[in-house]
Amino acid sequence: MAFPEAWLNELMSKNDIASVISEYVQLTPKGGRLWGHCPFHVDKTPSFSVTPDKQLFHCFSCKAGGSVIQFIMQAENLSYIDAVRQLAQRAGMDMPNEIDDKRLMEQKRRRERIYEANREAALFYHKALLSPEGENARRYLERRGVNADTATRFGLGYSPDGFDTLVGYLTGKGFSKEILIDAGLAVPGRKDPSRTYDFFRGRLMFPVISAMGKVIAFGGRTMGNDEPKYINTGDTPVYNKRENIYAINLLKGKKLDDIIMVEGYMDVISLHQNGVDNAVASLGTALTLQQARLLKRYAPKVYYAYDGDEAGQKAMLRGIDILRASDIEPRVIIIPDEHDPDEFIRAFGRDSFLLLKDASLTGVGFKLERIAKVNGTDTPDGREKFAREACMLLSRLEPVERDRYIPYVSEKSGLKIDTVREQCGVSPAPGSKEEPQRFITFKRPKKDGERIRIERKLLACIMSSPEYGAEIGRQKDFSLMLFSSDALRAFCARLLAAYRTEAKVDIPVMIAELDPKSAEDVSSAYSATEDLLDPVGSAADIIASLTVIQLKDELKSLSAKAKEAASADERAAVMKEYSAKFAELQKLSGKQN
Ligand code: UTP
Ligand code: MN
Repeated sequence: MAFPEAWLNELMSKNDIASVISEYVQLTPKGGRLWGHCPFHVDKTPSFSVTPDKQLFHCFSCKAGGSVIQFIMQAENLSYIDAVRQLAQRAGMDMPNEIDDKRLMEQKRRRERIYEANREAALFYHKALLSPEGENARRYLERRGVNADTATRFGLGYSPDGFDTLVGYLTGKGFSKEILIDAGLAVPGRKDPSRTYDFFRGRLMFPVISAMGKVIAFGGRTMGNDEPKYINTGDTPVYNKRENIYAINLLKGKKLDDIIMVEGYMDVISLHQNGVDNAVASLGTALTLQQARLLKRYAPKVYYAYDGDEAGQKAMLRGIDILRASDIEPRVIIIPDEHDPDEFIRAFGRDSFLLLKDASLTGVGFKLERIAKVNGTDTPDGREKFAREACMLLSRLEPVERDRYIPYVSEKSGLKIDTVREQCGVSPAPGSKEEPQRFITFKRPKKDGERIRIERKLLACIMSSPEYGAEIGRQKDFSLMLFSSDALRAFCARLLAAYRTEAKVDIPVMIAELDPKSAEDVSSAYSATEDLLDPVGSAADIIASLTVIQLKDELKSLSAKAKEAASADERAAVMKEYSAKFAELQKLSGKQN
């Protein structure tokens, strides 16, 4: 930075990190470090540490960290310069003199020049896109459903495939090669460093524009299958990817209730074009505190809509904490079938996307689902591990927030509500009436075999309680189609009829009449009746999870159908059905949150 090194050294040594931070946080020594509650988020266990040897701080929970200067920047919400000024004051030091102000001025001039170079480059790329050499790029955009208006709005461009087309153009306009290299637009040749090449060649160009409307960086996508898919401007004097957000320039001047945070350039562009104009991207998987602080200026709530893959899920987990630490309410939109937001909104439209948004999970709800998924809740061991981890998470919440998740954890783990409360470190309410304990809880099964197992259990429930069987037989919304197995479905139909018409139903006799294969299936259901402690309660759970499985299957085939639709009308019709089913599914799974 702009301060003389010796001066900065003096500043740091006169502002020992431990003593500065002690003015904000109560610190206790343990194992060579000092520990306390992190001042940057709600921190129940002390996860904030200071290492005096290294003069660094670090929070193991929100990952904030750095030197005493970064601490003051974050604690007092100051710029770098102002944080330094405050520490200088604290140490009784004068700020550096005139000479360094000159250096500051010089740096400022260089930054201005980089901004100009970037702006010229963006115009150059955009023009190239519209020129004959940009034909492939235009066709690529068309294939991806990006229209001309959108291309202009995002300033999209094409970087010609020559070695130094841009360098030639910009040096001709008076920019030095050094500036172009500093801007990240050009690179010195690897073999011959005296030559300077374009950094972006033959790529579709996405300018990154700051909130102030300045072009600060670029992303370039290949239009083929070569790797890497995207290359991006590295850190430069005007750009640090940890501090900026793609499309933040388009939020300016809007009063927003919330922001949608997606992973990629194309997701943002596609959402905007389809009428969701509060989408931005963090460009890089993990959200940083600086980015969160930037978002906070625009809206109090952020909806994550990352890709369904493992990397995306992990990034959301971290991001949720960062958002909470920044006092932003996190929500998570789950995009079905491993679509990304771009694919989803292009296939299903804005309304479907907004449906997903309505059905989003809270940050904690998302974490709980994730804990359930990782541990698996269809074995006793898995349920116990789920319960432990879930309660650990809940115990760190404030009571008012914790309460709404306790029934979910109880249901998923099969533990009593009071047990869950106790595990969370909350004593049960005196004289509280306990719900009857359910002995079977189901996780959405993946394999077909698991589904059959569940169907057998359902049949077992119906077999073991004639009253319940009779009741189910009268229910309109109970569907035999919940059974995917022909043998089980046929037997259930006969059993329900028998309950209706016969005074006494002899199940072993009914089984004896079956063909051998069906008899095998049905009798294994029959033997499962012995393990059922609460057939009626279990049946309700099973029906719910089978309904979810059923809906998901239907959604999958509808989504395939939508993709193959011959006309827009046909697709709209399929999508209408998709949305209705999807709402039904969300209503069912919404009960868990
Ligand atoms: P994705 O791989 O999800 O790509 O990366 P995408 O945005 O959906 O792009 P399309 O739809 O295939 O065109 C998400 C984001 O991660 C960064 C980019 O910012 C990208 O938009 N990324 C990805 C890179 O920087 N480099 C890469 O090689 C890949
Ligand atoms: Mn994509």
